Amino acid sequence: MDKTIYLDNAATSLPKAPGVGAAMADYLEHGGCNIGRGGYQRAWDAAGGVLAVREKLCALVNGPDPRNVCFTPGATYGLNFLLHGLLRPGDKVLTSPMEHNAVLRPLEQLKSRGVEVEYLPCTDRGELLPDGLAERLTEDVRAVVLTHASNVSGTLFPIGQVGALCRERGSFFLVDGAQTLGAVPVDMAAMGIDGLAFPGHKGLLGPQGIGGLVVTDALAAELEPLVSGGTGSLSESLSMPPFLPDRLEPGTLNLPGIFGLGAALDYLAEQGEALRERERKLSRHLWYRMKELEEDGLRVLGTDDCFNRAGVVSVDFLRTDNGEMAFRLEREYGVLTRVGLHCAPLAHRTLGTFPQGAVRFSVGPFTTFAEIDTAAGAVEALLTEARNR
Ligand SMILES: Cc1ncc(COP(=O)(O)O)c(C=O)c1O
Repeated sequence: MDKTIYLDNAATSLPKAPGVGAAMADYLEHGGCNIGRGGYQRAWDAAGGVLAVREKLCALVNGPDPRNVCFTPGATYGLNFLLHGLLRPGDKVLTSPMEHNAVLRPLEQLKSRGVEVEYLPCTDRGELLPDGLAERLTEDVRAVVLTHASNVSGTLFPIGQVGALCRERGSFFLVDGAQTLGAVPVDMAAMGIDGLAFPGHKGLLGPQGIGGLVVTDALAAELEPLVSGGTGSLSESLSMPPFLPDRLEPGTLNLPGIFGLGAALDYLAEQGEALRERERKLSRHLWYRMKELEEDGLRVLGTDDCFNRAGVVSVDFLRTDNGEMAFRLEREYGVLTRVGLHCAPLAHRTLGTFPQGAVRFSVGPFTTFAEIDTAAGAVEALLTEARNR
């Protein structure tokens, strides 16, 4: 098979935005020096380039200030910085069963250290039930942590509504933007978000190994740095600097990654809303095509409101094994998906697909409508074969 159809953009976007590889190579071949650790001009030039990427990210999410944008290796690290940095024994945190292990596992660790973790109710389509949230947001709730979109069901959570309630009740609101940033608008100020963690390698179309964390000043003042080390600033002190971004950026940054991400952000800005709209249309097309096949022996997970979804459509094959279907989709049709539990075991329990998991199809802006049709045709052919067996 000479051509594959990549429908695993929820794992990482492919291809990357034009210019990402060139920007990384340019930094390594022509810049290459560290920032914050040298007083020479090349170091200042590199530092200026890094600041420009912080500015772009801050503008993208309407964050408080570019200095409040801290680079991390990905969403997982950002979420750990938030959860371990904020929560203390005796604190209570609300979350949902639709979270990725990047949230669930740190919370489980914190639970063993005396943090109370409460799960908000979700429907069997992975929709958050915000009714009753106001009553649950009691004084002892230090934070609410939620994903913007589930990486299994694709369903978007009502982030703005939850953020407004958190503001009202004085709880911090922490958001996992892994499945939305770059594809779905995120506005920290309007949505009441105090801490936003995101990877650079998914919807932002940048390279792996770089991501970020954007925090409000109020949250930053409460965060204990999870990792400490050299920052190139206040070197006389044995404590982490009190100011951002240094407080949450110990050690040498992934500079090739940051420059690659900068190029991806430039591309997204150039393309504007048109690219996002295209991705949303592709996502709806994929959802419609899979929905059409429900009578043939599959169940589409997640909400039936196709305007309230990220670019993820997961299906549970009813008469055939999900693993076998994913394997045959690749081997016989070149369609690349992700099968299993997607690092989100409680999401699968909620959706009724534990322990068998599901087959996830996910689009990116470079997917084509024809590719989706080919993938849907392949699923249909395999279902027909299974029916006639
Ligand atoms: C919802 C969600 N949160 C967090 C992550 C973790 O992102 P990363 O692996 O880039 O740290 C992922 C990645 O799949 C995800 O889908």
